[in-house]
Amino acid sequence: MDAPRHGSVTNKEFKLNRNDEEDFWMNAIKSLRNALCGGLLVMAQPLLASPDPAKVAGPDECGECHKNEVAVWRETQHQKAFYELSRKEEAQEIAERMGVKRLKKDAVCTDCHFTLKQEGGDHEAIAGVSCESCHSPAKEWLNVHNDYGGKDVKKADETKAHRQERLAKMDAAGMIRPDDLYALAANCYQCHLVINEELVNKGEHKAGSDFELVSWSQGENRHNFYRSEDGKQNVESSSERRRLMFVTGIALDLEYSLRAVAGATAKAKFAVTNAKRAATNIKKLAAVNKMVNSPELAEAIRIAEAADLKLNNGEALNAAADGVGEQTRAFLAAHDGADLAMLDKYVPGVDKYKGEPGVAQQ
Ligand code: HEC
Ligand code: HEC
Ligand code: HEC
Ligand code: HEC
Repeated sequence: MDAPRHGSVTNKEFKLNRNDEEDFWMNAIKSLRNALCGGLLVMAQPLLASPDPAKVAGPDECGECHKNEVAVWRETQHQKAFYELSRKEEAQEIAERMGVKRLKKDAVCTDCHFTLKQEGGDHEAIAGVSCESCHSPAKEWLNVHNDYGGKDVKKADETKAHRQERLAKMDAAGMIRPDDLYALAANCYQCHLVINEELVNKGEHKAGSDFELVSWSQGENRHNFYRSEDGKQNVESSSERRRLMFVTGIALDLEYSLRAVAGATAKAKFAVTNAKRAATNIKKLAAVNKMVNSPELAEAIRIAEAADLKLNNGEALNAAADGVGEQTRAFLAAHDGADLAMLDKYVPGVDKYKGEPGVAQQ
């Protein structure tokens, strides 16, 4: 009654022909259904650490200096949904099945769709998915991150020692900066895999996005003004960066699909979808590592393969997810992307970008 070990899969070529692939999934899902022998534990808890409302400053504050970033963000689905979600029939149906009366009040929806800010004693939804959903709540780092060493000190005049101290303070205050690609991208997967068993099985919410890090970050969500020469161009992330994102994205997808299965309690859509997702991610990572040959990725794959994708195996699956995360960070520490040009054929290009990148307002 064991779940299929995906060791058999990773030995196969990445490009299975279509029928092979369908057969594989039919068998994998059949054996999974048998293996997921639904001992009911506690219902899986959402994994997302949504920003602490007491520490949220809100996007209007960011806009005082980051006008272009805010303008671009306003045109994304992340923010448009703030106004549109409640009116959608599908949203109302999901809410009804979940017993949710007000989408902007109930954590079941706000966890992923909205940013809450503490206003008086109350938590108010002030935006959709916003700056602080990805860069962490800002109150404790806001006045540190832009201080070059006093009121009149310009960026160019910041001392090396001050810069180091400033970055250390930003990190200590929990700011998630682009330098930490792993942490920044982990946010996406915490929401986009929809790791909430009840919401998927009972609410019939979509069981995870068809997410890919490069294509989903380089379109409408892109806001790379600071790194451009005059600060006014919304430049594509460099090709080195995109290679790193491509690999990191697959590894994070694996890590979080393992976490999803770890928390699953019932043999139903949530568990099956995520087990399938984890198995696919192992195959993808193995295909990537055929080209990259990284000891860290090899170890991540080994760890993931060793954990059975079945119910009531939370401890082992979470430990495997932790291991995959650790190896992913080690991979990032060992590569700058310049050494990964062999991936360029596989990194999604402009035609795959989700939505149009916005332009500067000023
Ligand atoms: C008073 C002006 C000001 C405000 C307000 C402000 N920022 Fe910044 N921000 C800056 C400056 C200046 C930089 C460039 C810092 C540097 O050179 O390292 C920056 C850089 C950043 C970076 C990039 C850091 C890096 O390591 O590359 C992020 C992310 C960021 N800000 C997010 C925010 C968010 C989110 C808010 C609102 C909660 C915000 N900022 C509010 C001025 C501001
Ligand atoms: C664990 C995170 C998570 C939670 C909790 C969550 N959602 Fe979602 N939801 C998502 C993500 C991610 C998408 C985007 C799916 C995509 O585009 O691939 C989405 C998309 C949707 C959509 C379709 C997109 C649209 O705008 O038409 C609806 C409707 C929706 N959610 C309603 C709800 C409702 C209602 C609740 C609360 C009962 C809820 N969601 C809770 C993550 C979540
Ligand atoms: C706090 C949760 C959360 C985080 C973090 C998050 N997203 Fe989303 N994302 C959502 C939700 C919810 C939607 C759907 C909004 C809607 O349409 O109702 C969405 C929609 C999107 C869309 C539009 C999808 C479409 O079908 O057009 C893109 C692209 C996207 N996200 C990319 C990203 C990327 C890239 C990251 C990480 C850098 C990220 N998201 C982080 C919750 C999140
Ligand atoms: C969905 C997640 C997400 C949201 C929402 C988001 N960011 Fe970012 N931000 C990122 C990612 C990812 C990067 C790094 C992209 C890269 O390095 O390729 C980034 C980079 C940045 C940078 C550095 C850009 C540069 O050129 O180096 C700044 C500044 C920034 N964000 C500010 C903001 C502000 C202000 C908001 C709100 C208006 C915001 N971000 C909303 C994910 C997000």
